[in-house]
Amino acid sequence: MGTRPEIIKMAPVIIQARKEGNIKAEILHTGQHRTLAEEMFKHFELTPDYDLAVMQENQSLFELTARITNGIGEVLEKNSDYDMIFVQGDTTSAFLGALCGFYKKIPVAHIEAGLRTKDKYSPFPEEINRRLVTPIASLHFAPTKRAAEMLLAEGIEEKYIKITGNTVIDALLQSVEKDYDLLPGVERILEMPGRLILVTTHRRENFGEPHRQIFQALLDISKKYEDVKILLPLHLNPNVRNEAKLILDDKPRILLTEPLSYRNFITAMKYSTIIMSDSGGVQEEAPSLHKPVLVLRDSTERPEGVETGALKIVGTCRKTIVEETSRLLDDAEAYKIMAEAPNPYGDGKSSQRIVEEACKYLRGLN
Ligand code: UD1
Ligand code: UDP
Repeated sequence: MGTRPEIIKMAPVIIQARKEGNIKAEILHTGQHRTLAEEMFKHFELTPDYDLAVMQENQSLFELTARITNGIGEVLEKNSDYDMIFVQGDTTSAFLGALCGFYKKIPVAHIEAGLRTKDKYSPFPEEINRRLVTPIASLHFAPTKRAAEMLLAEGIEEKYIKITGNTVIDALLQSVEKDYDLLPGVERILEMPGRLILVTTHRRENFGEPHRQIFQALLDISKKYEDVKILLPLHLNPNVRNEAKLILDDKPRILLTEPLSYRNFITAMKYSTIIMSDSGGVQEEAPSLHKPVLVLRDSTERPEGVETGALKIVGTCRKTIVEETSRLLDDAEAYKIMAEAPNPYGDGKSSQRIVEEACKYLRGLN
């Protein structure tokens, strides 16, 4: 693992695996993310056994790929008696973890398998990363029935596909009920009167003009609704931060912050009226908290949430974002339909299923 969402989604599996006495789970952190990752390891009280520390400022996919491959390669050259390598999702760390496992002929288990948009450039490079993990993996943990069907359609044998739910719900449910200390700035905006819109955005395909449109739309909304406040925790990617600050810094009722700790972010989700995001994890978490999500992308690999009504794809056009947000702010019935839609992504027991199935596979019982 290497990025914020991988740590959140892998942590419950590691914790569960370590509870099962006969599993020794080691953590290889590529260090694709630094600060964002440290915060998550701290939250889950986990320490990497290996830290490749590959992150560089504004890293390109070429150099990132080379550094991660060499780093994992070195670890596996020294110790190749792992029975299984787990990778999660679709980041560069996940894809290369699988590839390196293949080079050493170690079985790979893929958590969150079978997500597809069918558009190879959206999300970029994640759609291809996850597709490339599929033929390498020996065991596929699909979060939903639809994801399992995608894998079957690609020729994966049914007995190696397990429908488990998404471990992001395990992490969320284990953390959501607790009371947390909030950062003073976050506390202030949460307690200010008014309806809160929580926004996150970081996808590579949204860099540049799409981000400008999104940020202009937020400005339009804040001018149109005096009872609306906007909280935008900025991803550490400089491509996101610079553009956001240019358009939204020091605007009334808009707060740009550093990335929030997982605890602060969960609390902000609980306080929000609407969430706008291009994040994968947020699309899965928000329906559990009954918060409508306007998806700032042209496609999603999470159509289950669109079908239940919890998510709506609004793209990145300024005018459409303002219209769709206004609809939810003005029309209580439209809001209720989205907020009350069921969560299709899991029941909080995904990591238990994953560990059970992995053990069965390793004992030759599948
Ligand atoms: C990565 C993943 C994306 C995932 C996202 C989750 C790839 C190619 N991208 O995108 O799939 O959805 O993480 O957040 O795998 N940075 C820091 N400190 C950090 C983290 C990032 O400063 O702790 C900055 C650095 O300048 C870094 C840049 O962000 O070079 C980009 O990081 P990178 O991991 O390449 O891409 P993300 O946009 O974070
Ligand atoms: N998150 C967080 N703090 C923030 C923003 C997001 O803890 O300021 C958490 C959020 O709860 C979710 C995960 O980070 O579980 C999503 O990560 P991200 O959007 O970076 O990646 P993606 O899910 O799009 O791959």
